[in-house]
This record gives sequence, C-alpha cells and structure tokens, in this order.
Amino acid sequence: MREKILVANWKMNYDFYETTSFIRNLLKILFDNKINHNKKIIIAPSFPFLHISNQILQGTTLSIASQNIHQKDKGAYTGEVSANMLKSIGIKKVLLGHSERRIYFFEDDNILLQKIKIALKYNIKILFCVGETISERNKNVHYSVIENQLKNTVFHFSLHEIANFSIAYEPIWAIGTGITASPKDAQNMHQFIRSLFSEKYGKEISNKISILYGGSINDINAKDILYQEDVDGGLIGNSSLDMNKFLNIIQS
Ligand code: PGA
Repeated sequence: MREKILVANWKMNYDFYETTSFIRNLLKILFDNKINHNKKIIIAPSFPFLHISNQILQGTTLSIASQNIHQKDKGAYTGEVSANMLKSIGIKKVLLGHSERRIYFFEDDNILLQKIKIALKYNIKILFCVGETISERNKNVHYSVIENQLKNTVFHFSLHEIANFSIAYEPIWAIGTGITASPKDAQNMHQFIRSLFSEKYGKEISNKISILYGGSINDINAKDILYQEDVDGGLIGNSSLDMNKFLNIIQS
C-alpha cells in the first residue's frame, strides 16, 4: 500500500515565533493526545526557519521540506539558496514546479529540469507539482497539459532516479480559490498520471509513486478527496495554517 502524505505548504506566511510555536503545538497535540495519524506529515516553512523547524522535529515522524531551491550549485546569485546549503542543515525534501513559482518567478520546464538535477545531486527528494489553468480545462486540453509538464521534466529521469519523486496534481484554478476539483475529477487525473508512469517506467513504479492532490483542501472536503483510490495525500496551503483545520485534515 502506498503511504498517505500530507504536506503543509506555508508559502510566505508565518514569522519565526509563529512557525516554531505552531510546530511545537502540533507535536504536543499529536503526541499528548495520541492522535492516530496514519499519514506522513511534512511541513514546508520559509527558508529562514527551515533549520530550527528541522531541529524541533528531530526524532519525530514529522519532517520538513523546503519550498524552493536554486538551480545552480553555487556562485553569484544574490538572494538565492542552494541545494547544498539545504543539505548542510539536514533538509531532505523540496517542492518544485509549484504554479506560484512558475507564474510569479517564471520557472519554466527548462529551469525546473535543472532544479530537479541539482536536488538529485544532493540527495534531496522532490515533490513535483503539475496543474492546468481553468482555460486549459475548459478547452479540454488538461490531460495533455499535464502529460507535457511531466514529459518535459520528471520523465527525463531514470527508473532508478524516479524513486526520489512524489507528484502533486494542483489544478491552478483550485489553488487558494476555495474551489476544489471534484473527487471524481481528481481521481480521473490521478489515474491518468499513474498510467503515464506505468507506460514510462512500468507497473511496479506506477503503483509505488505517491500522487498528492492540492488546491483548496480543507477540513470539510478532505475526506472525500483523500479517499479516492489514486489520491495518496494532499498538498495543503491555507488550511494548513489553521491548527484546528489541519488537525481535522490529519484525522480525516
Ligand atoms: P491552497 O494551496 O490549499 O491554499 O489552495 C495549495 C497549494 O498551493 O499548494
């Protein structure tokens, strides 16, 4: 059975105090109340708080992901953070391909390809996001859009390397909008993505790869979406910033 994964993508929210107190409270609530969480929980805070957050979670089942890395090894890239820097503070996971990075920071497939390479070089696992716009869905080209996003990036990598990936399907029109894909639409797309992995890498890999859904997951809709056969968890923005909602999602 594939493990269920929940990733809290905090984006550019929460300062030092908010980040550390949320994580400490979450741990306390989960473990003091022995809350049964059969899902792997990953938190993605902002760069300045990765180190302390990672330290707080040492020895627990929760872990930390970075929201980004730069595609180059090192050098004159003012303001950027390298994979090696993240590795040196014990970060082992990164989100890549998020639509906010693609749209606001012009990260195209070529840049994403370089980012994947550098993450793999430093043994950092990748949660790679794909998703279509509303006009692509309305034109009924959403399946080919997702297929191309994968072909241009993740599918460049070998059978051996693919074990380092999880995928997040995040329809852009669902991110931060309060509108989610219906459980059936999510399931159909996830099944399609899995079939692409099967064609490219074989059944065994496609049965193993975790495919998360993201886009306006909340404590009310989580159950219906997360229980779809090919949905292996969620990438959660807004609702992961609210302790009660996040706890409800964890337990759904
Ligand atoms: P949302 O964000 O849950 O606020 O829609 C999800 C994401 O961007 O990963």
